Amino acid sequence: MTKETRHLGFLLLLVACNGGEPADTALAQASTETATAARETIEAMRRGGGRDGSASFTPPPSTARDPGARESIGDAGAALDGLSDKQRYLFNIGKLDFEEVEEVDEGLGPTLNLDSCGGCHSQPATGGTSPRINPQVALAKVGNNTLPSFLSLNGPVREVRFVRNADGSPDGGVHGLFTISGRPDAVGCTVQQPRFEAELARNNVVFRIPTPVFGAGLIEAIPDSEIRRNAAAASNSKQALGIRGRPNMLLTGQSITGTPNHNGNDGTIGRFGWKAQNKSLLIFSGEAYNVEMGITNLAFPTERDETAGCQILAPQPNSEADLDAGSPADGLSSIEKFTVFMRFLAPPRPSTQVTGATADSIDAGRRQFTDVGCALCHTPTLNTHVAASPASMAGKAVDLYSDLLLHDMGIGLADGIQQGQASGREWRTAPLWGLGQRLFFLHDGRTGDLREAITAHYSTGSEANAVTKAFFALPDAQQQALLNFLRSL
Ligand code: HEC
Ligand code: HEC
Repeated sequence: MTKETRHLGFLLLLVACNGGEPADTALAQASTETATAARETIEAMRRGGGRDGSASFTPPPSTARDPGARESIGDAGAALDGLSDKQRYLFNIGKLDFEEVEEVDEGLGPTLNLDSCGGCHSQPATGGTSPRINPQVALAKVGNNTLPSFLSLNGPVREVRFVRNADGSPDGGVHGLFTISGRPDAVGCTVQQPRFEAELARNNVVFRIPTPVFGAGLIEAIPDSEIRRNAAAASNSKQALGIRGRPNMLLTGQSITGTPNHNGNDGTIGRFGWKAQNKSLLIFSGEAYNVEMGITNLAFPTERDETAGCQILAPQPNSEADLDAGSPADGLSSIEKFTVFMRFLAPPRPSTQVTGATADSIDAGRRQFTDVGCALCHTPTLNTHVAASPASMAGKAVDLYSDLLLHDMGIGLADGIQQGQASGREWRTAPLWGLGQRLFFLHDGRTGDLREAITAHYSTGSEANAVTKAFFALPDAQQQALLNFLRSL
């Protein structure tokens, strides 16, 4: 038996009889007949509506618990190994700019979600995700702002999209949480916050939390052909379990006369963001600078809100290259500096210092992760281009635990927002590296508990239904081992 069919047999057996047996016995008994029977069961489930008839799933009782986030920061936030002195210098000045708190005379606002990249991307170090204490709460006290009810001191950091416009047509855009109105340095600016409570009342508000950028340069250096190769791998197992996955292609020529052409790019695979909606770190930097902070730049040169009286002092675009600078490095514009910093951030380093876990249980958990089928989407390793530049990124194994593909995650995780080819139910497989140090999970940060994050993989239409059930069918000790493994990442 090949490795793939062995896993398939095991998996399907678990799905068919809903567990109960120790994995070793199950492995030994996994036969072709069982696999066929289980496949029929899954087909029947599918015919019953979506990939499974029921909307959600209550896991059977288990003693397995999320060991919690690792306290030690370790070397998170360090630069990649093998950089030259000049590259390291640029990493450091990029980091300073990424952490800088911006002011109105530098172009901040008129609408914003926070005033620095580093404020949202800070757990467990600069470049990471939402911190324990949400810095947006303090920002809401500046100027005329009020704190929307969906933000709290104990996090997570959130940004907001509205699903529909007032007339019912699709919106999908980010709506700035705060404004600069009422600040002493923004006299004359009268832009008001959106009416969040009214939008909440009509069920029109969806959330996203920050994704971490550790190792982001390596993700950028993975060629499309590698993503496609991996998408085609293990196709028997994926098909039997109802897992499809497709790249979020950024296609040209999607415009309809009279409407703006969103995402009209070069036809290659998007990979950054919760829906893999962005192609590169430079594009993401330009977008984030404008959308999160209201600072226009060379990639996104016009204000999202052009209300008169709000951008009195700042030139347009607010940030650009300084062609008169003494050295090329000092002349780089901010979005280039952010990009250099993120490209050169080292990937998260796994640790065995997980509360209550032994190195053996972490190893056992790693095997379970593959055996129950998590790895069919959360691909442990993809490789960078053999000629990726700089040379320290070339031909590297990237242990990101993602296929960088979009998957239908069912009605339970749906946000109803279309981005590129990603539908309102589709999400990029969240890379799991660094998971051991994260506090909030899933695109909207709805939970900080791993068991709940896995449970949420199950709902009508989700490609992950069979795998989710297989996880909860494991004996408690093996569920625990898998959770320990996840917190070691
Ligand atoms: C208000 C909080 C906030 C601020 C400020 C912020 N971000 Fe983010 N960042 C987010 C959120 C939320 C996402 C996920 C967005 C999505 O997928 O729709 C994200 C995602 C990203 C990603 C994608 C990483 C990946 O692999 O998915 C990059 C790159 C990034 N931000 C860079 C930046 C830079 C550079 C800045 C400063 C110019 C910045 N961010 C400022 C909240 C923030
Ligand atoms: C069909 C593909 C698929 C399978 C199978 C799958 N996942 Fe996921 N996983 C995803 C996607 C997509 C997301 C992001 C969903 C969202 O945020 O709405 C995700 C998110 C997660 C997260 C949250 C990560 C974060 O940063 O918020 C964890 C933890 C996770 N998965 C663990 C697992 C485990 C453990 C298994 C196996 C039991 C598994 N997944 C199986 C696709 C999958």
